[in-house]
Amino acid sequence: MRTMFTMRLAAAIALMVAALQPAAAEDGYELWLRYRPLAGEAAQALAARVGTVETDERTDPTIAAAVAELERALPSMTGGAGSGGGAILIGTPNSPRIAALGLPLARVGEEGFVLRDVTANGRRMLVIAGNRPVGALYGAFHFLRLAQQGALPVRLDITERPRVKLRLLNHWDNLDRTVERGYSGQSIWDWWKLPTATDPRYVDYARANASLGINGAVLNNVNAKPDSLTPEWIAKAAKVADVLRPYGIRVYLSARWSAPVELKQTATADPLDPAVAAWWRAKADEIYRAIPDFGGFVVKANSEGQPGPQDYKRTHAEGANMLAAAVKPHGGIVMWRAFVYSEVDPDDRAKQAYSEFKPLDGRFADNVIVQVKNGAIDFQPREPFHPLFGAMPKTPLMLEVQITKEYLGFATHLAYLAPMWSEVLEADTYAKGRGSTVAKVVDGSLEGHRLTGMAGVANIGSDRNWSGSIFDQANWYAFGRLAWNPALTPQAIAGEWARQTFTPDPAFVTPVTAMMMGSRQAVVDYMTPMGLAHLMATGHHYGPGPWVGDLARPEWNPTYYHRADKDGIGFDRTRTGSNAVAQYAAPVAKRFADKRTVGDDFLLWFHHVGWDERQPSGRTLWEELVTRYDRGVASVEGMQRTWAGLAPLIDTERAAQIASFLVIQKEEAIWWRDASLAYFGSVSGRKLPAGVRPPAHDLPYYEAIRHPYAPGHH
Ligand code: GCU
Repeated sequence: MRTMFTMRLAAAIALMVAALQPAAAEDGYELWLRYRPLAGEAAQALAARVGTVETDERTDPTIAAAVAELERALPSMTGGAGSGGGAILIGTPNSPRIAALGLPLARVGEEGFVLRDVTANGRRMLVIAGNRPVGALYGAFHFLRLAQQGALPVRLDITERPRVKLRLLNHWDNLDRTVERGYSGQSIWDWWKLPTATDPRYVDYARANASLGINGAVLNNVNAKPDSLTPEWIAKAAKVADVLRPYGIRVYLSARWSAPVELKQTATADPLDPAVAAWWRAKADEIYRAIPDFGGFVVKANSEGQPGPQDYKRTHAEGANMLAAAVKPHGGIVMWRAFVYSEVDPDDRAKQAYSEFKPLDGRFADNVIVQVKNGAIDFQPREPFHPLFGAMPKTPLMLEVQITKEYLGFATHLAYLAPMWSEVLEADTYAKGRGSTVAKVVDGSLEGHRLTGMAGVANIGSDRNWSGSIFDQANWYAFGRLAWNPALTPQAIAGEWARQTFTPDPAFVTPVTAMMMGSRQAVVDYMTPMGLAHLMATGHHYGPGPWVGDLARPEWNPTYYHRADKDGIGFDRTRTGSNAVAQYAAPVAKRFADKRTVGDDFLLWFHHVGWDERQPSGRTLWEELVTRYDRGVASVEGMQRTWAGLAPLIDTERAAQIASFLVIQKEEAIWWRDASLAYFGSVSGRKLPAGVRPPAHDLPYYEAIRHPYAPGHH
């Protein structure tokens, strides 16, 4: 079947409709898929090459989605520029017209694409092709990404394929629609109304993800309820899967280890008990009947009170493999999380996951992938890379990052996270000598693993703007782009995002990109400078709580992490302390173990340092910390100034919201700085250097602050 879509007619209709309606509100709903009219020349250049959208495969739902996206975007982007009579041909080699072109499709795998200008039968055409429909869909979105930025080359000849196989969002969404660590409203999954009613938002969610190449969604919280595995809830998940499927997105579920016992269907959850294995096999069969392309399970076991195989004296591998056997006949996988630590283990929390998992290397079934957070503690503003990367060569490891900003100021602090993730991806594990980066562990190239993945804990909710703030959309965007290609630079990704989300005008894009690039370091500076970590208030993790030291589990207390006393501050993880450095390959361990080579980003992560010890700057450690806190606040003030200059270049609605959030961020940066200096000043007995502004209040004032209604904590 062939679709002919005349751009001139469509453009005329679009203009008429626009004239009749008030301008659509810029509330952020459209994300980076706004498809606004391009400026003069770019609009004409685009119009000249895209008169019609043609396909021979319109009955395929994925190709149909790609065509629909092009037909939605192109008339709008070309505005009144009309059509130059060119054509887009989209599809797979199932189309004889595409098969005849001799495209280099062998290079692009199952999900990649070729974008190429060709001349066939005397007609100039732009071909968007994949081996499978999803590749063509990704190609269409890539084309639109270039076009929206006004960055289409005169002749297109692009081949791309994703470097990582599983590119997943993990939703920490509960069945009652609350979201653990969610700062953007309720869960987008309206479980109560499913499966009978779906929401058009599900389609827009799928479009946004497909535009980035995200190919899977874990629908429910890792702190899972057994109910999500009941027939009633499987039917709901199946409905979501039906909506997401055309966009190349598979559905996965978090599985609660003890589900069969809690559902009163087995007497035990011992993974070696045949009745337990049989229950999971039958459950997997049931799920696959409802969701034939179900992706598999993610499991949080024996972690933070969750049940797991260790309750039965079995290992993580024994647990994972039992589940893996259940999904294996259907092609499913198990993502087994390595985020484990225990209050009864007196060892440094930062060491526990490695101690637990490293001995299990080689013991996991081939459809298990171990999911490892970027750092060994928990999504702090800065952590050194997790020592498991490079340490389990026989086991596929996937990287888990947190897109939602649990520890970075929730939705109202502007912090662009791609620099944080790239810092980890580029870190050299030295597992097989120099150049053994975390990225090479994650993309499988270091050890030749084919099962590879990246998971991002989603920041998506029911807010109109999806992510709680406009700049948090950039973190969703950046996660998807890095999962597609971990080598993309944060700077380039920020530029792409800003051009599509706001305007391609360099007067806007250049400064906004610079602002984004500095924003995460600002948070580090005003919250946890120089390698400090986990100093947030209890439970909800909002605002400072460095004084907290009375919680039941030792490793829940900020005092456990900073170890400040009258002499110094920092966690000694060298040989004289917990020796966590020994979990890294020798060259890395050596660098981290020496105060002179560790670098100030991780100084207090690995060392206990005297308050008066001189730093490379010539300042004492205490003075240096004061400088960093002040620098953090100054950075936020700088962002406010930058934004004041840029706001006139965009719509007032988004500009105003961003400005108001920067006010919140500034107030809270000052709160962090003042509370931290009041506390560390009291512990150290050191005075503030001359000329430094004293905290606005005394320490008891900060200690008394409570936020019982902070979002995201359930
Ligand atoms: C953090 C977070 C929890 C979450 C946990 C996890 O500790 O605070 O809410 O459940 O990470 O990743 O499992």
